[in-house]
Amino acid sequence: MNMTVGEMLKMMRDPLGAPFYPPALQVLLIVTWVLHIFFVTLALGSSLYAIWGFVRPNENRLRLARIAARLTPNAVGLGIVTGIAPLLFVQTIYDPIWYASNTLTGFWSISFIFVVMGGYSLAYLFYLKGSPDGKLLWSAVASFILIFFAGWIMHVLAAVSIRPERWIEWYAPNGIVDTRGIIFHAWNIPRLVFLLPLQAGLSLAVALTLLAWYFRHNTDDAPFMQWVAGVGRQLGLVISPLYALTGLLWAATEGVEFGIGWQTGTVLGAVGIALTVYFLILRRPMYDAPRTLLIWIGTLLIVGMVREAIRAVSLARFGYSVASYPYIFDWGSILVFAGTTVVGVAVLAYLVMVIYQSGGAKRDASISPRVDRLGAIATGMLGAWFGFFLLVGLYTTLFLK
Ligand code: HEM
Repeated sequence: MNMTVGEMLKMMRDPLGAPFYPPALQVLLIVTWVLHIFFVTLALGSSLYAIWGFVRPNENRLRLARIAARLTPNAVGLGIVTGIAPLLFVQTIYDPIWYASNTLTGFWSISFIFVVMGGYSLAYLFYLKGSPDGKLLWSAVASFILIFFAGWIMHVLAAVSIRPERWIEWYAPNGIVDTRGIIFHAWNIPRLVFLLPLQAGLSLAVALTLLAWYFRHNTDDAPFMQWVAGVGRQLGLVISPLYALTGLLWAATEGVEFGIGWQTGTVLGAVGIALTVYFLILRRPMYDAPRTLLIWIGTLLIVGMVREAIRAVSLARFGYSVASYPYIFDWGSILVFAGTTVVGVAVLAYLVMVIYQSGGAKRDASISPRVDRLGAIATGMLGAWFGFFLLVGLYTTLFLK
């Protein structure tokens, strides 16, 4: 039987359909990916700064390098957690392409887990045992390489997934099946450089201004914090034009390949130029840090939409679209998802408020009773959620054979 690529893609969809209205899942995919890419790029940026600070130290740089070394494992941890959300969404609306690319790159999609574990553990080792006295620099370097490599694997998985017309040829080159999954079948260097190293520099730039902003009331430390915010601004200023340029290259290669070259070029070029202008006119990087963060998250959202547009036009060639993905409301999953979101957001809001009020506010500030009450409610809900989850598990194990 001769099957077209379009028929193949449709047949590979989950026969049960998506559990919810697919375009809503698509929006959640983009939004959660933004959080993911923010944290993983921050990890990469802070990892590189820590290495640089220890290799070429001066007083300020060394102090910031120690902070960066501490930030890296935290950011990797948040990057992993926030990576799971887009993973779940991509599996519900893009399952045919995601599973195919993971199979065609099987060796690396499994190795990915160990690469990430290694990157995280070594970042932690360097922070804990190396950074106090500037030892074990190799662990920081190895961690940086592994985190970068994890991003490379992610990128190849994405690149393979949007080129279904080549799958058969990759699966069985010259008619001989290759089940090793070891070959990197597709990539786009401008896209990777744009998404990973350049965004790493920009995420770090934003985080540095935020760090200075957080300690803005600590007058004893003002010179150091002013310096940190200045480094953030400079970094932003140097990287933004490169970001614009690489965005144009991405558009000129992958954008043109899928027929939306000038559209992606206009958007990515404009975003890069706007950021350059922003960092240029940013006079008070320390005090304007929250606005800078907002602008950066907005930028990542636009980039997330560009990625999505490229995927959509690629798959539209074969008649595959998220809008026509079959779905059936699965109220069980919808309720568990909604409940988890409410509990998760409450716990997160509590943590963020405690962190803000304990360090960021003026010296004599203490945690307000309202935040304390939110904490009690949030942890109570978390306990209830655990109990509920355990009960569902027991019920399905014992009664749903
Ligand atoms: C820790 C190192 C990691 C780095 C540096 C990293 C980096 C990246 C990058 C650069 C992309 C975009 C690729 C592209 O569009 O070309 C991406 C996408 C993605 N990442 Fe990660 N990632 C990491 C870990 C993870 C983990 C642990 C998970 C899951 C648990 C994850 C889940 C995802 C998913 C699902 C996407 C694709 C979403 C989509 O196609 O819309 N990532 N990641």
